[in-house]
Amino acid sequence: MTLVHLLSGPSMMDAIFTLCLSARGVGEEECAPRREKPSFHRKGHKFIQLNRASFSQNPQSWDTSLKLPSCTVYHCTHSPVSGSLWQPLTHGTHQPAASHRCMSSTVRRRRLPSAYPVIDGTFQPALRHVYEANLRNSLICQQKYLEHKEKVMKGGGENAIERHTQRNRKVLVRDRLRMLLDDEDYLELSPFAGLGLPYGDIPAAGCLTGIGQINGLWCMFSANDATVKGGTAYPITVKKQLRAQFVAMQNRLPFVYLVDSGGAFLPLQSEIFPDKNHGGRTFYNEAVMSAMKIPQVSVVCGSCTAGGAYVPTMSEEAVIVHRIGTIFLGGPPLVKAATGEEVSPEDLGGAKLHSEVSGCVDHFATAENEAYECTRNIISTLNYELPEEDDTQVEEPLYSTDDLMGLAPRCYNHSMDVRLIVSRLTDGSRFQEFKARYGTTLLTGFARIEGLQIGIVANNGELTYEASLKGSHFVQLCDQRDIPLIFLQNTAPEPAHTHSQTKAEPNTNRLKAQGSMMSAVACASVPKITVVIGGCHGGDSYAMCGRAFDPNFLFLWPNARVSILAPGHSDAFVQTEEEITQINEMLEEESSAFFSTSRLWDDGVILPQDTRKVLSKCLKIIKQQEYQLSREKMRTPFLRM
Ligand code: COA
Repeated sequence: MTLVHLLSGPSMMDAIFTLCLSARGVGEEECAPRREKPSFHRKGHKFIQLNRASFSQNPQSWDTSLKLPSCTVYHCTHSPVSGSLWQPLTHGTHQPAASHRCMSSTVRRRRLPSAYPVIDGTFQPALRHVYEANLRNSLICQQKYLEHKEKVMKGGGENAIERHTQRNRKVLVRDRLRMLLDDEDYLELSPFAGLGLPYGDIPAAGCLTGIGQINGLWCMFSANDATVKGGTAYPITVKKQLRAQFVAMQNRLPFVYLVDSGGAFLPLQSEIFPDKNHGGRTFYNEAVMSAMKIPQVSVVCGSCTAGGAYVPTMSEEAVIVHRIGTIFLGGPPLVKAATGEEVSPEDLGGAKLHSEVSGCVDHFATAENEAYECTRNIISTLNYELPEEDDTQVEEPLYSTDDLMGLAPRCYNHSMDVRLIVSRLTDGSRFQEFKARYGTTLLTGFARIEGLQIGIVANNGELTYEASLKGSHFVQLCDQRDIPLIFLQNTAPEPAHTHSQTKAEPNTNRLKAQGSMMSAVACASVPKITVVIGGCHGGDSYAMCGRAFDPNFLFLWPNARVSILAPGHSDAFVQTEEEITQINEMLEEESSAFFSTSRLWDDGVILPQDTRKVLSKCLKIIKQQEYQLSREKMRTPFLRM
């Protein structure tokens, strides 16, 4: 049977299915439940994720008629909490577990051959002065980055570290992560959040969050740093924890909480407790995540007071460390104030009480290292099946990633052709450009990063009418083909306003085209990652998948500027010289990448030369959801009885 026959025939899916089975040598009986006829609708409906699979171990024996997809049926939902999610429907409750084997990731896959053209990444000598000005600026920004990093590594300071390690005999938070994770190659999110806030410097917002591997599985973690005011939750801490949960939901990552917190930071209670996205949302999310089958494990390695007590109690499994972990709604001082009774933390809510009497926790560990070992074992009980290591040779870019420091624009006027940046990020500096001659102020095309296929959308000037139409087309193309999108954002400052009637029509057309691109980006159900490489200003930033458009990850280069207007471009909006100076000074300060990241408007500042590494990690993290074997949404969350 030829491919044409298959595609045109009425029983196409049956034919594909039969071929898949026979080619892979899978028994008819074993996979029978998957013969249920799938439908092809998108968004909010069922659709078929076509995994281009190789059915033969020997590439020579490949026959075009066998280049058929293995059928993994996904359900694309728009969850109120998590936006678009890929959920397979292959194993609804009515189907036996054996059906999982049909989508086994042990199937060896082979990507379609590609040799995208190599981009010429050499820059013209005439632009050397621009490169050098950018480089000088990048070095200053890098210095600031390193200073921030040093500050954050000190946590709550020497005294607090001594109290934590000597008096309280606890392990420091970064050492805890060393024991928990496979290695130190984890993706820390928003490490500079909390620095320079109106209520002070809160290093790492008092809580480290990120994604690291446990037994090879990418897991989200959130770990209180008790050296920062007893690990209490400031408003920024709550925001960071909620973001971590959101990332876990969007990317379906198992979550490990290392809890060591005195609960709410009381002087700021009005900014932590009452509103929707305040502390209570953490517990709401825990329930929703559990219902979504996102596993959550807690390690009680310190105080879990007040709200903090719900974190382990609502987790699927919890581990507690003897003489270190405690869980109670009100601590000994509160008991004394209320009843006059003197009680020790251990008797009120220690490891023995909760593992032997209350059942609030499931595993008793005599020491911290034992608790992390136990957690690693819990993670290996999760129902994931990772693919075999891919030994395909990855092509490095032909140009050094160090050049990116001189390509990171100091301001919009110092931007060079964005192809120079792309050529330093993609495998072999290869790029299959799409619509190269149309809407040239936006670059669109396909590439690979460490072998993973991506679509790139990069500003290369103003987001004009044509550029926006091209952007919409390309985003939909990637959505159609299930290819993750990478946005490289460097938006132009606000264009000069015109009162001329002749300009009214082109301006309105541009507005409509940008609106269309925003719709395409907002509704594309593929993963999106945004890197702000220059400016993030005004409406263009929405179409380029700014924070409000929910990219799975959003990072800033240290030179990046984030503000509604670019600094120095407020003249059209205010009248007097004094007002202009005042607004420009404000924009200058508030648009800095460090101002932005300290308020958690992004997932962190990354150095330009690390971008390829970070993007590749994010793509691998996002891809992992394909390997969870049991994902259908349950009706109820996990309930600890
Ligand atoms: N709000 C504001 N600040 C708090 C706090 C809270 N809930 N809990 C602790 N802190 C501060 C302390 O005042 C201290 O500040 P300092 O370093 O400026 O002196 C710092 O955090 C560390 O507290 P400390 O008690 O010295 O450290 P510890 O390691 O011995 O104990 C706790 C840490 C969290 C176990 C203990 O402070 C505690 O039980 N706090 C109260 C918890 C509580 O009742 N929370 C209810 C919130 S609704």
